[in-house]
Amino acid sequence: MKILVVGGGAREHAIVKALIRTGTPAENIICAPGNELIAKEVTTHPEIVATDKLAVATLALQHRIDLAVIGPEAPLVAGVSDALREQGIAVFGPSQQAAMLEGSKNFAKEVMAAADVPTGMARECSSLEQVEDALDQFGAPYVVKADGLAAGKGVIVTSDKQAALDHAAKFIEDGVLVEEFLDGQEVSLFFLSDGKSVMPLSPAQDYKRAYDNDEGPNTGGMGAYSPIPWLPEGFVEEVTERVAQPTVNEMARRGTEFVGLLYCGLILTSRGVKVIEFNARFGDPETQVVLRRLQSNLADLLMRSATGKLENGPGAEFSPRCAVTVVLASEGYPVTNAPVREVFGIESAEAMDDVEVCKASPTGRVLSVVGCGQTFQEARTLAYEGMARISLEGGFYRHDIGLKVS
Ligand code: AMP
Ligand code: GLY
Repeated sequence: MKILVVGGGAREHAIVKALIRTGTPAENIICAPGNELIAKEVTTHPEIVATDKLAVATLALQHRIDLAVIGPEAPLVAGVSDALREQGIAVFGPSQQAAMLEGSKNFAKEVMAAADVPTGMARECSSLEQVEDALDQFGAPYVVKADGLAAGKGVIVTSDKQAALDHAAKFIEDGVLVEEFLDGQEVSLFFLSDGKSVMPLSPAQDYKRAYDNDEGPNTGGMGAYSPIPWLPEGFVEEVTERVAQPTVNEMARRGTEFVGLLYCGLILTSRGVKVIEFNARFGDPETQVVLRRLQSNLADLLMRSATGKLENGPGAEFSPRCAVTVVLASEGYPVTNAPVREVFGIESAEAMDDVEVCKASPTGRVLSVVGCGQTFQEARTLAYEGMARISLEGGFYRHDIGLKVS
């Protein structure tokens, strides 16, 4: 089977590594655009822009690709999956329309309401007067979300009403959602979906805030660990039955089958589990720890999802080992973009047993170091020892990833 992975971040690097680790020969994988570290493992196509439908479809045809795996949200929302499917290529990744589950928070709320999926109360607002009214209705802490994609910068959670209003003002033209504040631990649970049935992967916890002790602004994710030892028994089954399957059923009922990865961002409140967001793709950095533990053949699972055959065969198997990943961010992330600076020491970190480095962008979230061990303490020590070998002027990372489970 020849596989094309679309994207060029740490998540795509983790996908490529997991494909190879679980049995796909590296020569059967290409990645577009990829990045300089992915290029050390498989052939990359840096000339391709991931959102360019025609370029991606042409590349896939030239290389006789059997399965395309779309990593980031931008190509999904741009309709790259549709362009590939039109050429008869099996795709792991939802259509442009189905990707609206991530692309519009209002649409996601509509689907959840129709499917009776538990989520926070929310009001859709199109003027600042409506926003203010909704803020007063729900009270502090305030939660304001941009309706559309905002690269992790669309959400604010604050007790400062003026800050909430200022945030709303930035996005109001395209619509804003004001939501009740939900208190509890967050869990990311990924499901493979073939449009009809779903298959859960192993849960992970992401660290969204920029600095230690959950301080600072929201980010795309500064670290993660998997599995989650403190989850109540039956958690995965409950989310499958109450969240993932009804959502996929509702999407099918609307004629927009969801084929690909349904990322359920959940919060465990005192009133039960609730959805805070859906994404239509693998999460970053959770993928680095979830796929690190995968034992089943990833190519086979993704192909079964892409071709409506998820039920024909075994579920995903995971190692009982623990994985911890820590993200290195460039100076000023997520508020300002640092100039591109050289990163040193990646090879030295990768030379360690049970340490992997997944490379992302030159600025922003630059890379993630993944440690894997028998215990969380071991995995954490490895990830941080690996990180200590890496240097980037002005770069920073959190020091408390996985601490609560170690
Ligand atoms: P989202 O992009 O919707 O996942 O939001 C980003 C982050 O903001 C989440 O991971 C949560 O940490 C936080 N957040 C979002 N919605 C809520 C909410 N209703 N209550 C509390 N925190 C929230
Ligand atoms: N880590 C959160 C996300 O991928 O959206």
